[in-house]
Amino acid sequence: MTSSILLVDDEAKIRRALGAALRDEGYEVAEAASGLEARQLLGCQPFDMLVVDNRMPDMTGLDLIRELSASVAEVDRPQILMMTAYATVDSAIEAMKLGAFDYLQKPFDVDELLVVVRRALEHQRLRTQHRYLLSEQRDAFDQYGIVGRSARMQEVIRMAELVAESRSTVLISGETGTGKELVARAIHDRSGQRDMPLIKVNCAAIPDTLLESELFGHRRGAFTGATTNKKGRFELANGGTIFLDEIGTMSLGLQAKLLRVLQEREFEPLGAERTLRVDVRVIAATNRDLKRLMADGAFAEDLYYRLNVIPIEIPPLRERREDIPVLVDHFVRKHAKRAGKRIEAIDQEARLMLQTYDWPGNVRELENTIERAVVLTTDTTLTTHTVSVPGADPGSSSSWDGLPSANLRRNVEWAEQETIRRALEVSGGVKKAAAELIGISQRALSHYLSKHRIE
Ligand SMILES: Nc1ncnc2c1ncn2[C@@H]1O[C@H](COP(=O)(O)OP(=O)(O)OP(=O)(O)O)[C@@H](O)[C@H]1O
Ligand SMILES: [Mg+2]
Repeated sequence: MTSSILLVDDEAKIRRALGAALRDEGYEVAEAASGLEARQLLGCQPFDMLVVDNRMPDMTGLDLIRELSASVAEVDRPQILMMTAYATVDSAIEAMKLGAFDYLQKPFDVDELLVVVRRALEHQRLRTQHRYLLSEQRDAFDQYGIVGRSARMQEVIRMAELVAESRSTVLISGETGTGKELVARAIHDRSGQRDMPLIKVNCAAIPDTLLESELFGHRRGAFTGATTNKKGRFELANGGTIFLDEIGTMSLGLQAKLLRVLQEREFEPLGAERTLRVDVRVIAATNRDLKRLMADGAFAEDLYYRLNVIPIEIPPLRERREDIPVLVDHFVRKHAKRAGKRIEAIDQEARLMLQTYDWPGNVRELENTIERAVVLTTDTTLTTHTVSVPGADPGSSSSWDGLPSANLRRNVEWAEQETIRRALEVSGGVKKAAAELIGISQRALSHYLSKHRIE
């Protein structure tokens, strides 16, 4: 985004010279010939920066800065650069005390001005980013702890809301680390049974022989080692929700028993004569493709249809990259707070890396990456020194010399940008020539220009 600068000086000659130099740098420049005129402009539109002369007839630069600092909150104020003659250095120092970024003593070099302006605006950008990171209620996307602004995550959240009120069985599918458990909890917490238990069973973590008694309980003496009566998780979840994680790993025998619970809401604990009736909402989750398992005969078809009453599919993170920036900010806040550290920003290079990595471990992997960076950093800005993903840091290896990384996607993006940029350079900015030079159509060139935001 172009930065906007308000240039205030009573001398037309100076305005013209400095204005031209700043515009040449790509800034948007408005000019005011007096403090009063500047005040009026500041009232109508926001500026990123104010470059102001001190000695002017009606109102001095310092007066203007005083007024600004009294009436506008610091975060909303433009960066201020004061131009001053030797005799008024005292005013300049006062301006700095009021929050001005810097001052330049006349006469100065235009290049000097440009350097200070660039630095001030970079500072401004970090300040805005910092504010963005720290504002807690900033994202409307954070619903029930589920962060995501992509249309697909919004759809997941909407479905979760819809099913929460019902007692229907829900099947949540998605790759590892996509947030299946998080969504299951959100559904329970939004349901009328939120005060009743949510019981979790990880079917993959419990050996099949024990899983049956875990789920349904047993009576003393039901099998060797069953020395006491034990309540099963279904019984413990009565009135609430049972979350059956990794349902795809369950044996066919247990699947049949589960099917009966779903159909008739009853079962017998191991070794018991009596049948138990329960009122339990079932939420199942899987990172395996149940249809494929079904085709292989490893998952019972009737159970599948019983479970799949309301399917919620959580897409992998690489298919919803627009969620990455909001997740990153969310996790930076969370872990900075936990570690008692102040993190103000994440630099461009680190962001690009996070944005382009494929995240096979999805949101969990992203969270771990951020947590590690927050713990390791000694700086208030996260950079690629602390933010790292597999394959992105070729380190000292010379095999990647001349490439920005060891990640294919990043390198391809980089090559596109470089090729376009150099073609434009060689062809003196003539698009037709540039397109011909690198063997693409003018339309394709336009596409790349906007994709990479090349002016
Ligand atoms: N959209 C999201 N917003 C915020 N945090 C998320 C989101 N998705 C996942 N997480 C976080 O990522 C981690 C992994 O999520 P979760 O345990 O729910 O994944 P899962 O799909 O159950 O993974 P697995 O298949 O490995 O069990 C958790 O710490 C969770 O809080
Ligand atoms: Mg899980």
